[in-house]
Amino acid sequence: PRDGPAGRAVIVGSGLIGRSWAMVFASGGFKVILYDIVQQQITSALENISKQMRELEKSGMLKGMLSAEKQFSLIHGCSDLKEALEGATFIQECTPENLELKKKIFGQLDLMVNDDIIISSSTSCLLPTKLFTGLKHVKQCIVAHPVNPPYFVPLVELVPHPETDPSTVEKTYALMKKIGQSPVKLTREIDGFVLNRLQYAVISEAWRLVGEGIVSPTDLDLVMSDGLGMRYAFIGPLETMHLNAEGIKNYCERYREGMIRVLKTFGPVPEFSGEIEQKINQAMCENIPVEDIPKSINARREWRDECLAGLAKLKTQMKFN
Ligand code: NAI
Repeated sequence: PRDGPAGRAVIVGSGLIGRSWAMVFASGGFKVILYDIVQQQITSALENISKQMRELEKSGMLKGMLSAEKQFSLIHGCSDLKEALEGATFIQECTPENLELKKKIFGQLDLMVNDDIIISSSTSCLLPTKLFTGLKHVKQCIVAHPVNPPYFVPLVELVPHPETDPSTVEKTYALMKKIGQSPVKLTREIDGFVLNRLQYAVISEAWRLVGEGIVSPTDLDLVMSDGLGMRYAFIGPLETMHLNAEGIKNYCERYREGMIRVLKTFGPVPEFSGEIEQKINQAMCENIPVEDIPKSINARREWRDECLAGLAKLKTQMKFN
């Protein structure tokens, strides 16, 4: 076990994602400074993290080599940005998804940081050219887009600005590995990055199939959760092709025509509104009502997070070789 901090990470914005990042960094032995403009957010983040870490330790799901107590002792709150940045090696920005707000924050950080620190944004949708263009330290800026909840879903999409230094990408990649995440590199920015582009491809065909009355909303979801999703937690669509025939070439030989024929029957981009929206909403709310939000939807969210924690554990047991 490491007994000294591996580095110092500053979390800017201590909401849902910031808290989760803090836990991930601490699990990797990093000293973590939680910063927010709302003091109450820092206080509740620390309480929440302490509680979660103890529960995770009890259930054997705590990440990293250090005890919950030791990990928690690495995390400190700070409500002064300048002070928070002292000695920091990495900044993970986790403020609300608002371009003007984020630009203002990066502008502030740009004036305070040295030439070594990495400035990373958790943004789900905003492109690096929108966020970082014109900053003096643009070479040190990158998007590191996590998946909710990052503590159990390790993927991080690394998206560079055209002026991001290659060493920033490499350092961020190595750091993400070190803290137990699973980074992927995009060579350049694209709207939706990769994860959401794949997700939207699935959502739009799901919407069309339900809209055309071919399958019910609940059965559609079962096709993923009891079908495709079973393998996708372990292997991706390309490896699936490779394994489902005698390699990719053989798969294309066998299924090329069929894939193209089916793909040509896909409809236009759905409106995601009107009758189909109502139908899907009704089906979802039958099982998980949203009116009394705290109860049923939160219970289902908790169950989902438990499933993801269990799956994360299974994935480490099922490592190939
Ligand atoms: P949130 O609303 O839970 O937390 C945002 C925090 O930022 C709040 O604590 C707020 O007080 C603080 N804040 C606001 N202005 C600030 C400022 N000027 N300086 C410092 N802190 C400030 O938001 P959430 O869900 O944690 O999202 C944060 C980022 O992570 C967004 O960019 C979002 O797109 C991204 N993200 C969110 C995911 C999700 O599922 N929620 C998944 C992946 C990325």
